[in-house]
Amino acid sequence: MSLDEFRKKFKLVVTSGPTREFIDTIRFLSNPSTGRMGYYIAHAGVNLGYDVTYIHGPVPYKFRAVHDAQNVEVISTIDMMNTVLHRIEENTILIMAAAPADYRPEKKFDHKLKKKENPEIKFIPNPDILMSVNEKIKKENISNVILIGFAAEIENAHEYAVSKLIRKDLDMIFLNDLSQPNSGFGVETNELTVIHRDESFEKWSTDSKEKLGYRILHEIEKWLA
Ligand code: CTP
Repeated sequence: MSLDEFRKKFKLVVTSGPTREFIDTIRFLSNPSTGRMGYYIAHAGVNLGYDVTYIHGPVPYKFRAVHDAQNVEVISTIDMMNTVLHRIEENTILIMAAAPADYRPEKKFDHKLKKKENPEIKFIPNPDILMSVNEKIKKENISNVILIGFAAEIENAHEYAVSKLIRKDLDMIFLNDLSQPNSGFGVETNELTVIHRDESFEKWSTDSKEKLGYRILHEIEKWLA
């Protein structure tokens, strides 16, 4: 298949940013993801001619809308999961660059908690979005869905990334080594290692997230087009 045909055939769905799990009317559990990496992947996707849906959690203003993409804002991990599942159909590339919260409070208080209430908050696990996409693909027998993940790790980075690639049945995973100063949440650059389904890998030199947006898509095209 030519690159042009591949870009016309596949729809691109990119997620980015954190999710929020509210504890009471104003407080939440989240993480410092800004959505920059996912934003630049979606941006590169539009420029390469893909039909792009950009699904983001609460991110800074400049990463909220990709020009000429369908932009959807979500809040919680379950919102993000439902929005992603809704868009999974034949010929879809899903790139999960988001950092969804893995836990949510068992119960949300419907008033602003007061100090003296000193509540015990029990957290319960959120569903895994990539796993639920896998379930949908199998149950509904949907073909040609390419799944790409990210792994942000500090210790045993490579080993954990490979185990996520296998467990989540991904075509490719991009390892973001958080122990490196030029990598991770909130910074302009990333130092990525790409790991393929056959576990072959390549460590890329540090680059801006803007340039990496294109490089990531070219890598997917090189291996899967
Ligand atoms: N991810 C997902 N659903 C979640 C959490 C993560 O689909 N509830 C996706 C992320 O977008 C990323 C990949 O799974 O592409 C790996 O995310 P990461 O947070 O590193 O992995 P976890 O599965 O949460 O594993 P752990 O917390 O054990 O590191």
